[in-house]
Amino acid sequence: MRSTARRIGQHLLPLLILAITLPIGGCLPRRVADHEQWAPEERIILTFSHVVAEHTPKGLAARKFADLVHERTGGRVEVQVFPNGQLVGDGEAEIRALREGRVDMIAPSTGKLAELFPEWQVFDLPYVFADHDAVVQAMEGAIGERLFKVLRRRGLMGLTMWDNGFKQMTSAVRPLIHPEDFAGQRFRVQPSRVLVEQFRLLGATGLTIGFDETYRALEVGQVDGQENTPSNIYSKKFHEVQRYMTLSNHGYLGYVVIVDADRWRNLDEEVREVLTWALEEATRWNRENAGRLNAEDLERIRASGHVEIHEQTPEERAEWAEALRPVFDSFLTTVDDAELKLALEELKRAGSPVPGNP
Ligand code: LMR
Repeated sequence: MRSTARRIGQHLLPLLILAITLPIGGCLPRRVADHEQWAPEERIILTFSHVVAEHTPKGLAARKFADLVHERTGGRVEVQVFPNGQLVGDGEAEIRALREGRVDMIAPSTGKLAELFPEWQVFDLPYVFADHDAVVQAMEGAIGERLFKVLRRRGLMGLTMWDNGFKQMTSAVRPLIHPEDFAGQRFRVQPSRVLVEQFRLLGATGLTIGFDETYRALEVGQVDGQENTPSNIYSKKFHEVQRYMTLSNHGYLGYVVIVDADRWRNLDEEVREVLTWALEEATRWNRENAGRLNAEDLERIRASGHVEIHEQTPEERAEWAEALRPVFDSFLTTVDDAELKLALEELKRAGSPVPGNP
């Protein structure tokens, strides 16, 4: 959550709680907390779409957010969460639906923003974030600030960023130990040029395929492999159609919770404050629990016996990082924003190929 929103929330929230729970007036209707009893014209329903399964860092954070809003408003404001892309699909379709008002909130991964907002690909860069703290620092610091401004230029508003975690490589063809093991293979990627370039530098081909179509693409051999977090791999059963997995932690997967800026401004201030508070709580929960959820799913993948798991050594990591070093420079040449460029150069200096959190 951006810090300004947090400050505003701290001051207004106690007033809001009073307005909801005591009959003291204010913009919300006078009502002692009488859950579920709001008349239809008093209720506000917001739809929240995402593409992953429910038992994942994003799926559970969205659920938590919705539950908190429900509890805090006594059911007056309801966030309806639609997982698995069932409401408005994935990627560009999801962003278009938000802009056209067919959904109120989305939380795409940064790779899905690449076409409209290429600057966001910074989070897709391989071996840039040494660990989870480095990711949070980028989200909360100058990089996050500039990237949120980029969204505003097209009428969208980023409210917070959520974690999934670090990605692992899988393949049906051969164990991925050294960069040359990628040669000739095709990997499913999100629609991010940075990710296509990553696989090109490894001698492979990156093919953009929707998240929901990835299992099938792996099953029929349209692609040989993919990269994702253990929670996404496990919940979508990718490991069942793969033979090898390398714990590479080579890149990060995270999300931006986005709304349409005009529609957000048109909500009552009190409603915005509850949503802001609940998102901040959900963000805290997400950042504290994403690592654990991924570690648990990695154990489930291991126990399934479907894939042979290779734990990358520091020497192998250094080989991959060396092969992938040019991605950062080619990405930098595409960034026009001078402030963002400075922050990225700083990030580049600080980055190192040390392991991320699984
Ligand atoms: C993917 O397509 O791999 C991810 O964007 C899915 C997600 O939202 O975690």
